[in-house]
Amino acid sequence: GYKVQLKRSGKEFVVPPGKSLLHVLRDAGIDVAYSCEEGVCGACETVVISGTPDHRDNILTEAERKASKTMMICCSGSKSDLLVLDI
Ligand code: FES
Repeated sequence: GYKVQLKRSGKEFVVPPGKSLLHVLRDAGIDVAYSCEEGVCGACETVVISGTPDHRDNILTEAERKASKTMMICCSGSKSDLLVLDI
């Protein structure tokens, strides 16, 4: 698992293994956009402020993955212990 911090509210959550970032945020009552939940529509694209996402979507290009300025929170995880998102 890893921790996610929401920059705008300062809230922090733990994302346990096997659970998506999107589900953790929805369960916490955070209003986030999403649609397909499969990494193909782009609705859940979220700006990454710090941390290293583990990209598992089918949308971002190789260059965008390396830059990691955004991530799809429905399906992607984290390679770092902490992800800070612009939510
Ligand atoms: Fe469609 Fe995340 S909800 S890519």
